Amino acid sequence: MPQKVRKAVFPVGGLGTRFLPATKAMPKEMLPVVDKPLIQYAVDEAREAGIEEFIFVTGRGKVTIEDHFDRSYELESVLEERNKEVALNTLADSMPPTGTVAYIRQREPLGLGHAVWCAKRYVGDEPFAVILADDLILSKTPCLGQMINTRDEMGGGNVLAAMEVPHEHTSRYGIIKPGFDDEKKVEIKHLIEKPDPKDAPSNLAVIGRYVLEPQVFDLLENQARGAGNEIQLTDALSNLLKTSPFYGLRFEGTRYDCGDKIGFLQANIAFALERSDMGQEIANHIKTLAKDL
Ligand code: G1P
Repeated sequence: MPQKVRKAVFPVGGLGTRFLPATKAMPKEMLPVVDKPLIQYAVDEAREAGIEEFIFVTGRGKVTIEDHFDRSYELESVLEERNKEVALNTLADSMPPTGTVAYIRQREPLGLGHAVWCAKRYVGDEPFAVILADDLILSKTPCLGQMINTRDEMGGGNVLAAMEVPHEHTSRYGIIKPGFDDEKKVEIKHLIEKPDPKDAPSNLAVIGRYVLEPQVFDLLENQARGAGNEIQLTDALSNLLKTSPFYGLRFEGTRYDCGDKIGFLQANIAFALERSDMGQEIANHIKTLAKDL
């Protein structure tokens, strides 16, 4: 068995410019899908996949994320007085154990690669996961769990979540040049960040879940700025794949881009329909609305 993946990095320093005005004073990671903020879905997914330590790379204006994963004594005492057992349990379940959460400030928005590099000292010399909270995935098995299983099967290496996207959308994603492909796992020959459709080697895109070997930190350290004049994780990965095995996993599940208004609304509908306490009511309402379309 390869070394266990115990730590996850959550880059949450992004500005959320595609979701203004909602994200002017509120972190995009705190946008709720039904009744849970995006960052909570990401942390729950990581916990279900066996992650034990949670490293947030934050920025200015993101303190509500820290408050969210902290105790709220005032609220708890009011809920206790009112015997609100269910609400109290929901709050308790939402927090990883004390001492397992760390926050690092990324002082300048230099890109995703730089955000991940900021976690170097906390991750140390072991494999780790990266989760981008605005990519929300509805699946039977949490996407990160599927990826860690694949890594175990392959005896280690790096695994990226992958998904086919419309060819005209390649400039929104890291794009994979595929090698051997068994339709679920695909060997990654090369990666390019946000290529023009005419330069894209495929329409297989990287989605915001990564399981990485720690060697990526050394590459990030010297990584030149790339697309958008930012230090790109994809560029460091395309160097790492010269020396370390890399796979893309076509995960089971539906991915919603919750950094985008339409993707976010679709996620709310899909997650609400899954819920036993409201799914039927929402379905009935959608049917009523759709009658006149
Ligand atoms: C980031 C990555 C990109 C990846 C995407 C997935 O881009 O740089 O390679 O395909 O996440 O959502 P961003 O969406 O932060 O611009």
